[in-house]
Amino acid sequence: MTEIFYFDSKFRLRIKVLRFTSEIHKRSEAEWSGKLALRKSKGISISFWTLQSGELKLHVNDFTPLFHILPLQFPRLFEDPFMRTKLFLTLFFLLCSLLSIAQTAQQPPLYLGTAWYPEQWPQSRWDADLELMQKAGIRFVRVGEFAWSTMEPAEGKFDLDWLDRAVTMAQKRGIFVVLGTPSAAPPAWLTQKYPDTLRVEEDGRRAVHGNRQHFSFTSPRYRELAHRMAAEMAKRFGHNPNVIGWQIDNEYATYSFDDYTRAQFQQWLKAKYNTLDNLNNHWTTAYWSQTYFTWDEIPIPIGWNNPALMLDWKRFCSDVYRAYQKTQLDAIHQYADSRQWITHNFMGWFDGFDHYTVSADLDLASWDNYIGKGHLNPWTNGIVHDLTRGFKRKNFWVMETQPGNVNWQDVNNSLDKGEVREMAWHAIGHGSDAVSYWQWRSALGGQEQYHGTLAGPDGKPVPLYDEVAQIGSEFAKVGDILRGTSPVSEIAFLHSYDDRWSINFQRHHKEFDPIGYMNSFYTPLRKLTDSIDVVSPAAPLESYKLVVAPGLNLISAAEAKHLLDFVQNGGHLMLGARSGLKDEYNALNTTRQPGPLAQALGAHVEQYYVLDQPVPVTGDIGGGDAKIWAEYLKADVPDVRVLARYGKSNGWLDDQPAIVTRAVGKGQITYVGTWLSDPQMTALARWLIQSDKITQRFTDVPEGVEINRRDATGNSPREIFIVINHTKESKHIKLPSPMREQLRGNAPVSELELAARDVAIFAK
Ligand code: GLA
Ligand code: GLA
Repeated sequence: MTEIFYFDSKFRLRIKVLRFTSEIHKRSEAEWSGKLALRKSKGISISFWTLQSGELKLHVNDFTPLFHILPLQFPRLFEDPFMRTKLFLTLFFLLCSLLSIAQTAQQPPLYLGTAWYPEQWPQSRWDADLELMQKAGIRFVRVGEFAWSTMEPAEGKFDLDWLDRAVTMAQKRGIFVVLGTPSAAPPAWLTQKYPDTLRVEEDGRRAVHGNRQHFSFTSPRYRELAHRMAAEMAKRFGHNPNVIGWQIDNEYATYSFDDYTRAQFQQWLKAKYNTLDNLNNHWTTAYWSQTYFTWDEIPIPIGWNNPALMLDWKRFCSDVYRAYQKTQLDAIHQYADSRQWITHNFMGWFDGFDHYTVSADLDLASWDNYIGKGHLNPWTNGIVHDLTRGFKRKNFWVMETQPGNVNWQDVNNSLDKGEVREMAWHAIGHGSDAVSYWQWRSALGGQEQYHGTLAGPDGKPVPLYDEVAQIGSEFAKVGDILRGTSPVSEIAFLHSYDDRWSINFQRHHKEFDPIGYMNSFYTPLRKLTDSIDVVSPAAPLESYKLVVAPGLNLISAAEAKHLLDFVQNGGHLMLGARSGLKDEYNALNTTRQPGPLAQALGAHVEQYYVLDQPVPVTGDIGGGDAKIWAEYLKADVPDVRVLARYGKSNGWLDDQPAIVTRAVGKGQITYVGTWLSDPQMTALARWLIQSDKITQRFTDVPEGVEINRRDATGNSPREIFIVINHTKESKHIKLPSPMREQLRGNAPVSELELAARDVAIFAK
């Protein structure tokens, strides 16, 4: 980023921030001619600027007075007394702006937020809402993501004045703004005039207006209209100091099955396979006369189809969502300051597209954490936080979470008193830097009248408001020690959409849910540690001691090499059942499982069996049961160690190896050929912690208590522990060494009684 200082025709000092040097060249002659341009001097770092009604506002990171630079570079300025006065007045004004903005624009380390829909309410009400938010410690609102019909009430007629007023009113209350682009809900005039932008369902019906997400994600016309809307927003708010970031669209979810999408899919396949022979070969289309002779014969899979085609359709949809998103990213990048980050609010495990692909162009990952029915399970929910953190491999945001209850389950129970706060700290513990409630106050009409809120239809706080206000005051109190910290892990779980899709297309046992299988490994390991990463198999692995890959059903040669490098260099790779059964085209491997890793393992899967009832397993990790799936493993070399064997069952499995392990290079590979019962998984987790020397800072942690660690490296390295009692009884916590509890502000303690659903934050 380059900053240029210059004076306009009225000799007002101005600053232009340009992202690319090439832009300066492009503009320098045309735009800057006749103006004085000063280059940025060392020591000044301006992160953004705005010009509103002739008022210059700067946001600074560091400040060094400009006085030193100006006279040196432009001595003639100082010869003219009028110019000199003008200049010093300008500088005086500049200094005042710098100081005031530096004070007010201080960004909180932890953001409490809410989804606010000013377009649904009279403007006379807005400040009362914002005041209530401010009192609860809310520091940001997400605004605009469904407001297209208010922002562009007729084609090409934009009205953003109301939004500008809302942003300014929020700013006065110390509340920052995340702007949502409104493309998840196109206005009626748009779909009426351009019906081709409407999505087509699997059965050929076109969507109608009145719900949301009724657009087609491939439609070029829709993308153009959404781009223009986003560009108008970015022109207006791209330099607004109170706007900190953007959310593109809302929860991408739907596909369209129209002819244009089908043609796009065929083009995509052509680019990938080049020739039909190649495609037919990888897809084994001689099977059931599926052979394609021209590209336009290839269908969009509806229902049961060739698994290779089905997998490529999912990959195509991932690329489509990335491209759909890109048109809006481009609009914002063109007009907005680079300090405004861009995110999308993902939906946890949702697998409609590959989230690694779609998040590649984003600055920040965020997700909408809903429990729906029932209550928080910290392990199955925690892994989803870790999954989201893994999209960008850095801290993330919880962009939406439920204030008590949702409206879309068959039973919309409320979370218990204290559970919302418990969930907020659980998110922070897993590396979120924000927790935002959907929504502030329910719209009086519309589909979500029964959803939980923080303010009732009367505009007054609901009982949960006080609990959220407590979170607000706690974020303010302890935020600073968490600034710049994130979870740092010795263990990574590998997760990939290709593998989940492939298994879900053909589960073979209805209960073989790849997420459930992943959870069966994660839960016991996470209970014994304080941080686990969940990353794509393509992620760098060298910082980990242990990599657990429960579900790599497809293993390509490149992926195998990446994993083997990790092992050769001293890592421990643990594979789960069904690993390496297929290649990256979703065709069966001609090498027995785990395919390209079988040689290194020194063992292979002789045969797999679906289990209609549990099978006993015994060995170094104690005795227990295997369920759902069992692979009969066979050692090919003598140095393979058998960790567990099946007991008497179907005859084929009797006494055969169920888990094997082998030292390879400086590391180790372990293969688990089954789905172990919980106590045995716990025993396996203990074995891993011990043999891989995973650091256990807290020991004897009571059941239901979660230890989360966020570290800061660099100048002030520190470890912060967020300890949460997820149970309904109080629990006794023993600390590894005396630490200060930050919420209670006491002297160092070495143990603490933690009440039901309560949280403690420890730092040395
Ligand atoms: C039927 C079909 C076969 C095959 C088998 C599988 O019998 O005729 O082509 O699909 O089922 O069980
Ligand atoms: C999703 C959506 C929101 C709202 C909530 C309700 O997260 O993004 O607009 O519908 O669900 O739970």
